[in-house]
Amino acid sequence: MEDERIVEPDLLPDEREFDAALRPKTLDEFVGQERIKEQLHLLIDGARARGEPVDHLLFSGPPGLGKTTLAGIVANEMGVSFQPTSGPALDRPGDLAAILTNLEEGDVLFVDEIHRMPRAVEEVLYPAMEDYKLDVVLGKGPSARSIRLELPRFTMVAATTRPGRITLPLRERFGFSPRLDYYSREEVEHIVHRSAGILEVAVDFEGAQEIARRSRGTPRVANRLLRRVRDFAQVRHDGAVTGDVARAGLELFEVDEEGLDKLDLAILTTIVRKFGGGPVGLSTLAAAVGEETDTVEDVYEPYLLQLGLLHRTPRGRVATERAYRHLGVTAEGALPL
Ligand SMILES: Nc1ncnc2c1ncn2[C@@H]1O[C@H](COP(=O)(O)OP(=O)(O)OP(=O)(O)O)[C@@H](O)[C@H]1O
Ligand SMILES: [Mg+2]
Repeated sequence: MEDERIVEPDLLPDEREFDAALRPKTLDEFVGQERIKEQLHLLIDGARARGEPVDHLLFSGPPGLGKTTLAGIVANEMGVSFQPTSGPALDRPGDLAAILTNLEEGDVLFVDEIHRMPRAVEEVLYPAMEDYKLDVVLGKGPSARSIRLELPRFTMVAATTRPGRITLPLRERFGFSPRLDYYSREEVEHIVHRSAGILEVAVDFEGAQEIARRSRGTPRVANRLLRRVRDFAQVRHDGAVTGDVARAGLELFEVDEEGLDKLDLAILTTIVRKFGGGPVGLSTLAAAVGEETDTVEDVYEPYLLQLGLLHRTPRGRVATERAYRHLGVTAEGALPL
């Protein structure tokens, strides 16, 4: 349990039952990202007025900020069904064709991790997104022929933590491509209060502040910390989450003052101690902390950059002065041991 990662993007086993309850279902319930919400409101209202499906949407941003949630909200607000799949699940063009031909008029086809979709599948997607047409090749060799199927008009909603990996022709086929950013402290506090209400946990103002402060501006992390602290409050106290209870609970789970978990600290410590403060290449760094390069780059690094603890240079990652202060070491103490 104590080895669980606070920022782990996948749902932890005991989170599934809470996930559905905590996930906002309408734009009004969705806290923060005000500008994106306003833009989506307009798109949805416009589409509804015209009796058309919403334009294709691409949501990008770090894990746990609400991309999947927003995709579900779009389907819900449009009153259509939500058909989820993911880039890695669409192994061959036929996989995509099977899903596309099963869609109903207006449906939301949600493709998570679209940057991991194979190129051959992507090519099937172009005419489908643009003209609601699907080209199917029948047979092989000289007798092969291609037929064109009409598809129902649908809305493609894609999500990615890696917008830079999406090819230009694909990117251009989305009508609106908002990038979600980390939430403000106040917004995360609001989310903690909302979730506490749903979970029926008594959290006071200071308790919510303590949780929000360490949530990396990320709703998923906020909900996760809330549940940890709730357990702690029930087992060790009377169930109420006050500031003191939250602090003690979060300390027990090794989440530090700025929301850094063990791997964040391992990344910084490794740069400082093993690589003299950097620069060190991303893959070398990932190997040194025993984590996959993609995870370090997509999940951990964005927040460390945001806090100003890490810099990216052409030669690799560098620990900033702030990182040294955070770790409580001086630059001399950072020389390779
Ligand atoms: N704006 C929000 N208001 C309230 N709760 C939110 C908000 N955004 C996200 N959440 C909560 O955080 C959890 C994670 O959100 P979601 O799964 O949509 O993130 P994601 O961006 O799709 O992450 P990933 O990149 O890992 O797929 C959801 O279960 C939801 O309960
Ligand atoms: Mg998601």
